Amino acid sequence: MTMTRRESLTLMGGAAATLAIGAEQVQAKTRAPAAQSLNALAQAKGMRFGSSVAGGTGGGTWRNPRNAALVAAQCGVIVPENELKWQAIRPSATSFDFSAFDGTADFARRHGLALRGHTLLWHRPKWMPGWMETHDFGARPATAAAAMMTAHVKTVCARYNGRMSSYDVVNETVLPEGGQLAQTRLSQAMGGTEALVDLAFHTARRAAPGVQLVYNDYMSWEPGNELHRKGVLALLEGFRKRGTPVDALGVQSHLIAPVPGASQQREWRQFIDEVVAMGYGLVITEFDVRDRELPADMALRDRVVAETAKAYCDMMFSYRQLRDVLAWGLVDPFSWLQGFEPRSDGLAARGCPYDSNFRAKPMREAIAAAFAAAPVRG
Ligand code: G3I
Repeated sequence: MTMTRRESLTLMGGAAATLAIGAEQVQAKTRAPAAQSLNALAQAKGMRFGSSVAGGTGGGTWRNPRNAALVAAQCGVIVPENELKWQAIRPSATSFDFSAFDGTADFARRHGLALRGHTLLWHRPKWMPGWMETHDFGARPATAAAAMMTAHVKTVCARYNGRMSSYDVVNETVLPEGGQLAQTRLSQAMGGTEALVDLAFHTARRAAPGVQLVYNDYMSWEPGNELHRKGVLALLEGFRKRGTPVDALGVQSHLIAPVPGASQQREWRQFIDEVVAMGYGLVITEFDVRDRELPADMALRDRVVAETAKAYCDMMFSYRQLRDVLAWGLVDPFSWLQGFEPRSDGLAARGCPYDSNFRAKPMREAIAAAFAAAPVRG
């Protein structure tokens, strides 16, 4: 039987006690020694744990001493939340500005943390720099667009040569509504999205040999993601047919609590099976859990968020193709969810492993437990 989200929420409200017992069992069974960091637990399985960090002057940044200490203690790898995007590093068509990201890269070096690069091409008009809208690609637009894409990838890769372990080369070029490929002024100038994204990967392979190259997207296991998943599979198949050098699928993993029904979970497993059958690795690139649809009660919310995290991590960690697991922020108040997807009741979202006092939440225990239960990677 499949349940709609609303039905499962109704059930949840009516059976909160049962749910609570389930979640407590999860925690009791799974509590890991406090001294072990999430990255240490991951490393014991041949995996890595990490988080995004922001580079600005706000809270979720390495400039915040408590956040910096938490990131350094818990993580083995970090990724910039915004500072490597075109909007951040391309003030114009001909210039680069790495001042914001360089601080993040130095933070990683000081603490011996690996770095992921996000992203060499966020292929949506909305996330391109403003100047792209009016940029004149001249009489030979395809040549000009290819030159722009190539210069971008080469410049970033050369600057951080030897410091990046992985790049989200292309981010979100599959449209979730229908599974088609997005178009931008850059891809239109180039003569097609496939040509543009292929060029990005080929250039990255040459400019950053030995670095993991990832296609990153937010298709997920909730209902409504069917066409998005289909579109991503078609893109990944196309990469293989054309010989495009893509090593892994980045599964962003911005989940929505609670855990979806069994048929959804089956569909998700089939999707991941198809991805790995094509020879792709897996990366969890932006993990958090949206609690927008859960009741206000904080303890209940924390338990359902933890249950969702545990069910998802257990399934994903069972794939040996998955090694890196990155949260999209460690601490609730600094999460993008507070601004982008606020709860309708005005309460703060609680979708990260740590709370506003930097205390571990049940979600942190759920991730720790999933690492403890994961098979060892060779
Ligand atoms: O730093 C500027 C500030 O100078 C300016 O005054 C202010 C006014 O708008 O904006 C600030 O920049 C904001 C930036 O976050 C830093 O806070 C941008 O407007 C805002 O659009 C940006 O949002 C980010 C969003 O991507 C778009 O880049 C979120 O923090 C970030 O969490 C989110 O991350 C994305 C991933 O890259 C891709 N996958 C989905 C994920 C969540 O949406």
